[in-house]
Amino acid sequence: MWDEKRPILFGGDYNPDQWDDATIDEDMKLFEQAGINLLVLPVFAWARLEPEEGKYDFEWLDRILNKIWKHGIHVFLATPTSAQPAWLSKKYEDVLPVDIAGRKRTHGMRVFFCVNSVNYRKRARALAEAMAERYRNFPGLAGWHVANEYGTYCYCENCQKKFRDWLKERYGTVEELNSRWHTSFWGRTVSDFEEVMLPTELNDDYRFCPAVQLDYMRFVTDSTIACYLNEAEVLKAATPHLPVFTNISGYIKKLNQFEMTPHMDFAGWDNYPAPGDDTAFPAFKHEIMRAARDGAPFLVTEQSPNQQNWQPYNKIKRPGEIRRIAYQGLAHGADSSLFFQMRQSVAGQEKFHGALIAHSGFHTRIFREGCALGQELKKLGSSFTGGRIKARAAIVFDWENWWAIELTSGPTQDMDYLKQVFLYYQAFYTENIPVDIIKTTTELDNYDLVLMPLLYMIKPGFDGKIREFVKKGGTVAATYMSGRADENDRCIFGAYPGPLKDVFGIWVEETDALYPEERIEMLLPGKGDLQGKKYRGGFLCDLFHANTAEVLAVYGKSFCGGKEQECFYTGMPALTINRYGAGRAYYLGCEPDAAFMKDWISQMCREAGIRPLFSFEGKLELTCRENESGQYIFVINHGDSEGRVLLDKDGQAVVYRDLLRDKEVSGSFAVASGEVAVLYREKNK
Ligand code: GLA
Ligand code: ZN
Repeated sequence: MWDEKRPILFGGDYNPDQWDDATIDEDMKLFEQAGINLLVLPVFAWARLEPEEGKYDFEWLDRILNKIWKHGIHVFLATPTSAQPAWLSKKYEDVLPVDIAGRKRTHGMRVFFCVNSVNYRKRARALAEAMAERYRNFPGLAGWHVANEYGTYCYCENCQKKFRDWLKERYGTVEELNSRWHTSFWGRTVSDFEEVMLPTELNDDYRFCPAVQLDYMRFVTDSTIACYLNEAEVLKAATPHLPVFTNISGYIKKLNQFEMTPHMDFAGWDNYPAPGDDTAFPAFKHEIMRAARDGAPFLVTEQSPNQQNWQPYNKIKRPGEIRRIAYQGLAHGADSSLFFQMRQSVAGQEKFHGALIAHSGFHTRIFREGCALGQELKKLGSSFTGGRIKARAAIVFDWENWWAIELTSGPTQDMDYLKQVFLYYQAFYTENIPVDIIKTTTELDNYDLVLMPLLYMIKPGFDGKIREFVKKGGTVAATYMSGRADENDRCIFGAYPGPLKDVFGIWVEETDALYPEERIEMLLPGKGDLQGKKYRGGFLCDLFHANTAEVLAVYGKSFCGGKEQECFYTGMPALTINRYGAGRAYYLGCEPDAAFMKDWISQMCREAGIRPLFSFEGKLELTCRENESGQYIFVINHGDSEGRVLLDKDGQAVVYRDLLRDKEVSGSFAVASGEVAVLYREKNK
């Protein structure tokens, strides 16, 4: 499957250890009918594969795999290590986790083991070895899916010991540790690494010493990487030509995926948009996954063919919704559209979770929609797989910054870094201006505009990189809550944004927290496109001073509880621009309303010569993926009415091929409400 150009992977999780032969046989026919080319299994079958320690039973799986392959369907074989068997939890004391409240947990849940457990790792590796040995030459094997959605935080004695070792390795001496953690605050100095305690609720460390918690989160990420590699190394060694990866939960905060995914061949993630989510939000998460491996295509490893069971209100998918969700992933760089799950379970927590084949059977709307999608993806074949997205604008997203800024006590309890960065992304999304999410380590040479919203933590070397970028002519934009702390959460003295003060030509004196209902005016008296306009902002207000920067907007009156009043910082800067080298640096003091955001982002893009992908009308999502054969334009109409894309470039007509409808299109291209299109233009045409 990986020799030629790979087709779009379509299919997903199949848990046949629940089904009898007759059901499996029926499933095979239905899978073929639906155009499924890949199944992921047996994700939760450890207890069935190893009923007793070291005694394996693979025969049932052999039979099923052979049936699957007889129908020409490939598999990602899953090591079923996210749900250890009861005997393992019972036999070895170190397997079950201890929670943050210090309680030793009991067996029953999945993803419920200590990632540092010696016995868990030993048995998981042995199982991976046995599976690799048995299936390395299985012709339908397309890759290895390790465990499922890692994310357990454990506080057992073994983790405590390992954490101390990890700190020793990172800091060398206890003096260095004391200095980095600034333990002289509240007299927390330690004289030995053995005195370091885990940040549990038992000692309240979790909330009261952010530096310890921050390192614990780094440690859990490193421990999880080691736990993953414990199996992945064995699988990779057996089949070096096949990809090995794990699937990332949509609740991504717990583990630093920018650290984890470089150890994998793909970033694969589980996309479950909540009913009512702005369509920009899953798009944003796709971009984060694309960033994880520096722009490489990623996998959508799970989506729901219908309603979920775990949302507060589980809406059934509206007609056409699955198709739009699937195309959105592909549009943002995914090479797969995989679903959880193929057949709905008889019982258990997820019995009402949607599936391609429901309790009610396959004469259903959902099965029909699944089949139609499968046929379409088959038609698109391997056309755009491997294709990348090109953007000249970027938004910095930093995992450790996310942890640190939300661990911080004050200035507001409403800090939500993901949501904040999303607001900036959303402005690009709405205008269909291509934008990359990037890491702090990403090279900036390909970009003209870089936003770094709420970049509270400035890591060594980052300020130098931004300085060079702006000097050479780039535009950078920073916001409130930037440049506050180092990588150990020690604050920067001499005014924020610390080492970047010169680039922005300002200094921040204080930061005010606004009540949720409180707004402040942002007035633009000066020059520029936004001149004379009045907007509003909120959330946090930096009180800052211009050194070399020019003031573009000032704070006006404040509004709260129906009262309008002058505020003592009325007239202070709200937005500035500093010319630095050949470039420019914007500093924004508060979270602006959507109108300001739209106008400001558009202005910065215009100044940098960055344009929307096309002129368009309607609630359209437009992206472009490029591979060696050409450009693929994705069009998704999320609106209630017809949309239009003007396909001309610089006033010249350009002809594209509408791949789903098999016809040439140009000029003003109409897309009906809820419809999708993939338009192709051959390279050098
Ligand atoms: C996760 C898991 C799946 C399943 C789905 C249900 O993503 O990986 O096993 O539980 O959620 O939405
Ligand atoms: Zn543990």
